[in-house]
Amino acid sequence: MMKFAPEPFKIKMVEKMGTLNKEERKAAIKAAGYNTFLLKSEECFIDLLTDSGTNAMSDHQWAGLMLGDEAYGGSRNFYHLEETVRELFGFKYVVPTHQGRGAENILSSLTIKPGDYVPGNMYFTTTRFHQERNGATFRDVIIDEAHDPTAILDFKGNVDLAKFQALIDEVGAEHIPYICLAVTVNLAGGQPVSIANIKAVSELAHKHGIKVMFDATRCVENAYFIKTREPGYQDKTIKEIIHEMFSYGDGCTMSGKKDCLTNIGGFLCMNDEDLYTRACGMVVQFEGMPSYGGMAGRDMEAMAIGLREAMDYEYISHRVNQIRYLGEKLDAAGVPMVKPYGGHAIFVDARAFLDHLDQATDFPAQALSAALYEISGVRTMERGIISAGRDNVTGEDHVPKLETIRLTIPRRVYTYAHLDYVADAVIELYKKRHDISGLRWVYEPKALRFFTGRFEPRNEELIKGY
Ligand code: F0G
Repeated sequence: MMKFAPEPFKIKMVEKMGTLNKEERKAAIKAAGYNTFLLKSEECFIDLLTDSGTNAMSDHQWAGLMLGDEAYGGSRNFYHLEETVRELFGFKYVVPTHQGRGAENILSSLTIKPGDYVPGNMYFTTTRFHQERNGATFRDVIIDEAHDPTAILDFKGNVDLAKFQALIDEVGAEHIPYICLAVTVNLAGGQPVSIANIKAVSELAHKHGIKVMFDATRCVENAYFIKTREPGYQDKTIKEIIHEMFSYGDGCTMSGKKDCLTNIGGFLCMNDEDLYTRACGMVVQFEGMPSYGGMAGRDMEAMAIGLREAMDYEYISHRVNQIRYLGEKLDAAGVPMVKPYGGHAIFVDARAFLDHLDQATDFPAQALSAALYEISGVRTMERGIISAGRDNVTGEDHVPKLETIRLTIPRRVYTYAHLDYVADAVIELYKKRHDISGLRWVYEPKALRFFTGRFEPRNEELIKGY
């Protein structure tokens, strides 16, 4: 057996990548305010900004696009999607939305009262934004080790039940509409949650009348880790594991742009009929009819097909192994990273990489993502103090323990050869790490500041002498 099996797909359509030279890249990142979100796609060589909506669709999905029933009401593609989600996830009701945050908006608006608390296994940017917008306080109840890049645990995304219990004791279960349980945990490094933990969270929550709402965005990756790491699950299929995971919950939000293998879309699921009725009332105000929720019929068809394809063990095993491959190459060169390697990305520990910079004033992860682009054309994303934003009440910066850049691998897009290039680029930059300057704000937006904020280097050059 090969250590890393080759891509389990053939390539039948290709897309040219951006090929800017050094001077052009330096000009491009400067024009983008040293924020990789603001680069043009064509300016990037290998684009690891995100795995969201960047999936390559299969021949069957492309064929599915031609089956789009673009009816305003009752598109047959919706019924296909609904039937697929019900079968695979096991929830009773499915409300389509334009993407994950559309589902988060509806769930948060309908269930949160001002003054409530929403516990979660680490925050996600848009998820917390919608919780706070509706008057809730987010409480992180993930295990402490999740905040330590060096702690090696099989299920580093697990909830700390004592923290969850302490919150219930402190504020009262009546002020906790639901616990948001992310599988896997994006900002912890794509770390999974075990079935044992999901079960225990569900028991504790339900004992107090608190709902369990999954963030199902990366549930297929989570199921892969359960299959390969949790005793008793080796012989179960990905489909069986997903079904069991969700059987302990009351619903989920889903960004279809990740594990549904499509480029746009999302949905909200629940078992509660009253919540479903109210969600349908709200989806018409913000997304569209409950039979399309902001998606074209063809997109719903591609999503139904993609979600089923994602249950294929060959597919998900190759995906997660690509991440491990990149991680092992960087590790051999001593690059500091969040470990174990997660399900969708390698998170480079920017604080350890740029140990001459200060997190609060130099924004090491923001500087590192800009510098990596400058030397290689590889685009990554800051996941540190800039992404964490400010406290709504005090206006102070949230100071996350993890200060990282995320090398996010799009699904079925890049080959191992592309990852070799990425590894070489990071390793080359690691050798020059002390030449990298910190950044300072030029423009700081009020909400979700990482998307459109602008910066400049504190020193004359971003990478001295480059
Ligand atoms: N939940 C998780 C765990 C996510 O990673 C995302 C998106 C969302 C919810 C929101 O979904 O984008 O469809 O509205 N994550 C992207 C990323 C943006 O790059 O990690 P959306």
